[in-house]
Formats: sequence, C-alpha cells, structure tokens
Amino acid sequence: MAKLKPSKGAPYARILGVGGYRPVRVVPNEVILEKIDSSDEWIRSRSGIETRHWANDEETVAAMSIEASGKAIADAGISAAQIGGVIVSTVSNFRQTPAVATEIADKLGTNKAAAFDISAGCAGFGYGLTLAKGMIVEGSAEYVLVIGVERLSDLTDLEDRATAFLFGDGAGAVVVGPSQEPHIGPTVWGSEGDKSETIKQTVPWDQFRIGDVSQLPLDSEGNVKFPAITQEGQAVFRWAVFEMAKVAQQALDAAGITPDDLDVFIPHQANERIIDSMVKTLKLPEHVTVARDVRTTGNTSAASIPLAMERLLATGEAKSGDTALVIGFGAGLVYAATVVTLP
Ligand SMILES: CC(C)(COP(=O)(O)OP(=O)(O)OC[C@H]1O[C@@H](n2cnc3c(N)ncnc32)[C@H](O)[C@@H]1OP(=O)(O)O)[C@@H](O)C(=O)NCCC(=O)NCCS
Repeated sequence: MAKLKPSKGAPYARILGVGGYRPVRVVPNEVILEKIDSSDEWIRSRSGIETRHWANDEETVAAMSIEASGKAIADAGISAAQIGGVIVSTVSNFRQTPAVATEIADKLGTNKAAAFDISAGCAGFGYGLTLAKGMIVEGSAEYVLVIGVERLSDLTDLEDRATAFLFGDGAGAVVVGPSQEPHIGPTVWGSEGDKSETIKQTVPWDQFRIGDVSQLPLDSEGNVKFPAITQEGQAVFRWAVFEMAKVAQQALDAAGITPDDLDVFIPHQANERIIDSMVKTLKLPEHVTVARDVRTTGNTSAASIPLAMERLLATGEAKSGDTALVIGFGAGLVYAATVVTLP
C-alpha cells in the first residue's frame, strides 16, 4: 500500500467578507393583496413582513450572485483569482445542469475554482459554510466563496394565502479563508426527512411535463399552475419554535459559550414570530442584537442569513469581530447552526 502525503490546510477558518444583493423592485404587502384575501395588518402581525424584493429578468440567479460575491470579495480584501472554491446554495435556479456555481466562478474571474451547487433549503448557508471550512482546513482551497441565492418569486403561487406573502428574492455571499484561531464553531446540523412533506414543490417537474390537466392544480382562471413551493405553515412553525431553539443551544454548547457571550443572533429570516420565540427560549440577554431583516426582505431561503448579516454590518447594528449565532432551517426538513465571528 502506497503511503500518501497528508493534506495540509490552515489550522482554522474564518468569514473574511460578506456581500449582499437585493433586487431593485420593492414589493409592498398591497401588491400581495391583489391576489389573496388578507390584509396588510394580518401579514405584518403574523409574519413581520412589510416588503420584499422581486427580481426582474436581468436579476438572474447568476447575476445576483455575482453582485453579492463581488462585494464579499472586496470586503475580504482578496482578489477573485485567490478563490479556490465556489459553493452555491439555491433551490430556485431553473437550469438543472450545469451547476450555476461554475458560471459564477468564471464570471468573477476565479482561476478555475472548484464550483458546485448544493440544495439544502433554508439551511443552505450553514451547510455551505461547513463545507467551506472543511475545504480550507483540509487544504483543498485557501479561500472559498459561499453564496446563498434565491428567486423564490418564480416558485410562489400568488393565489396561495399560506405562502404568497412569505417569499422574496436576493443573494448573499461570504468569503471564508484561513485563520490561526477558531472563528467558525462546530456545526450542529441534521435532517428530518420524515417531515419532508411539510415544505415542498407542489408538482414535481416530470408530472408537470406530462401535463395531465386532471392531475394538476389550476388557477382561478382555469389555467394549469406553474409548480410552486407549498408548506404546512403551522406544522413548520411549531417545529421551528420547539426544535430549533434546542439546536441553537447545542451550537452554543459546542462552541463552548453561553448566551451572555453572544453579540448577535442571526436566525433564518422566515417569520418574525419564530425569531421572537427563539430569543425568548434561548433567554438571550438584552445586549444581543437580533437580525430582523425579514421585515423588508421576506424569506429568501438560502440567502436570508448572509443578507441579514450584511445588513447588520452595513447599518452598524453589528460590527466586525462580534460573536454571532447563526441558524438556518427549512425544506427537508434540514437545519444547521453554528457560532461565527463576524467579518
Ligand atoms: C404561514 C404562517 C405565517 C401562517 O400563520 P398561522 O398563524 O399559522 O396561520 P394559520 O394557517 O393557523 O391560519 C390562522 C387563520 O388565519 C387565516 N389565514 C391564513 N392565511 C391568511 C392570510 N394570508 N391572510 C389572512 N388570513 C389568513 C386562516 O384561514 C385561519 O383562519 P381561521 O382561524 O378562521 O381558520 C405561519 O404558519 C408560519 O410562518 N409558518 C412557518 C413559515 C416558515 O417559516 N416557513 C419557511 C420555513 S423555511
């Protein structure tokens, strides 16, 4: 048996830069009310959402990712050519293959960086971050770009009262690089596939292609509806509130810190009531800044945590070096939580 050279990476990894892109078009609740029987007051009080962004034809998954990544690379103070890996988490890129990550890696000017897409719903950022950290510590890349990007407006049924108001579009990106100290804690992650039916695409692509009208959902005008994301709101809500606070606590324990040591809490931006409930269960002290980007960005799935992180830093509500707990959870059901030092 041949003896292989051990791989040599950095001792630890750290987020070095963050960037975000929100589509130009801001969509207030009034627009959502054109298609569903609801009210601005109901949407705000049940979800916290006031506005969200919807992408136009030019704001593609790749275009939004490139914008967000350019900012993250500048923020990290490196050049695109130094990036050895590009990980894109998305569930809303319409081209099945090739991975959109390869186009992004090329257009950014990386030097043939390894590039691939992952599908981990609203936990996608945490999954990508964990992979990036592994690549850096293992030595297969010095810098890795992790992008969360969604065009959920393409997969939203505007006649569905349970979801029409929830989703938004956007991209968030971070550059992860080498560090002499631990700045990304152990990830607590997992999946509960027995609950996979609670958030899903209404109709799989093959069934949609067959086009049997008797089997497909129709809109109010009798046309076949395009597949969309549907969910059992209450079941997901209960799961998030009861189970995710435990996962968040486990991530704190794994990092060896307590809520008192935290500066910032950046949970997945799904619903402000879920955020409030987690803050209460975790008994987060007053001094902890809590991300509430959901109010003006809606739920952007994989993009929500990096977008919220970028906004907190841009507004000065959080600062470089702060200790933040991040937790994503969603379709799968999947989850990922970790403690990070902010770039
Ligand atoms: C979607 C969500 C906001 C709905 O809130 P909810 O309090 O659970 O609402 P319910 O579905 O129990 O409905 C409560 C009532 O409001 C009504 N309602 C539902 N949607 C409504 C809407 N858009 N506007 C007005 N009323 C609505 C229902 O008909 C029901 O009325 P009833 O009491 O007379 O029967 C909430 O379930 C949620 O946020 N779930 C988790 C979402 C999430 O995080 N998803 C992504 C995870 S990644």
